[in-house]
Amino acid sequence: MNKGEVMYEGKAKIMYATDEPDKVLVYFKDDATAANGEKHGVIQDKGIINNKISEYFFKLLKSNGINSHFIEVVSDREMVVKLLRMISLEVVVRNVAAGSLAKRLGLEEGTPLKVPVLEYFYKSDELGDPMLNRYHIMAIDIARVHELDEIEHIAFCVNTILKDNLRSKNIDLIDFKLEFGRDDKDKIVLADEISPDNCRFWDMATHEKLDKDRFRHDMGGVEEAYKEMLTRLTM
Ligand code: ADP
Ligand code: TMP
Repeated sequence: MNKGEVMYEGKAKIMYATDEPDKVLVYFKDDATAANGEKHGVIQDKGIINNKISEYFFKLLKSNGINSHFIEVVSDREMVVKLLRMISLEVVVRNVAAGSLAKRLGLEEGTPLKVPVLEYFYKSDELGDPMLNRYHIMAIDIARVHELDEIEHIAFCVNTILKDNLRSKNIDLIDFKLEFGRDDKDKIVLADEISPDNCRFWDMATHEKLDKDRFRHDMGGVEEAYKEMLTRLTM
């Protein structure tokens, strides 16, 4: 497979065309942003770690019956995925109150939620990713009702599979963000990445944060946390 033109460069990844029109090569960068792009930095070797952790989770999901865009890893920082028409949504699933939910509802970080919560955000840098509900999404034609049903079904299955796997590694899955696209048959497919950039992982015993919150809140030990996650998952 040959790497072609840059199709898109985002904040954390670069998408390259390949000589196969239905496949793209994803290059994972070390760049990190937070606070809607206002905070910039570099997390050494993050790209290598997120490529490996995403591979681990996409393979785990596949072995549990959840398909994704993932095809194969081709280098330290690169994976080949199925090219999709992306849906402009960030789909967040939460098991424990943290981050923006804790702030919005005045809950202490770490408060367990009685049922998992699913939230939608409009993926729009200009608008600052506002929260949406199903009616907004249908009203402005981002997705249709049967697609949202499918997205929610997949998102909750991913939650169960990841939560159970992480528990065996002494990690609590606090929350995570997924993205979805449509394939050539309009089927909804899980896309993007699953890594410490877009999940909150806490050590079960100490509640130590092993994710991007260390970068967001200048807590130090960022690189070490990403490495620790990879070690726990793959060793
Ligand atoms: P951002 O666009 O938020 O800065 P990234 O730097 O992670 O994010 O860039 C990756 C981009 O590729 C995202 O916009 C994401 O929606 C998109 N993407 C993820 N998976 C696929 C896929 N399978 N096909 C096409 N685009 C994808
Ligand atoms: P939040 O508490 O800041 O809303 O974040 C919820 C989850 O979504 C958390 O695991 C981090 C992830 N996330 C992203 O991946 N990208 C984003 O732009 C935001 C705001 C959150």
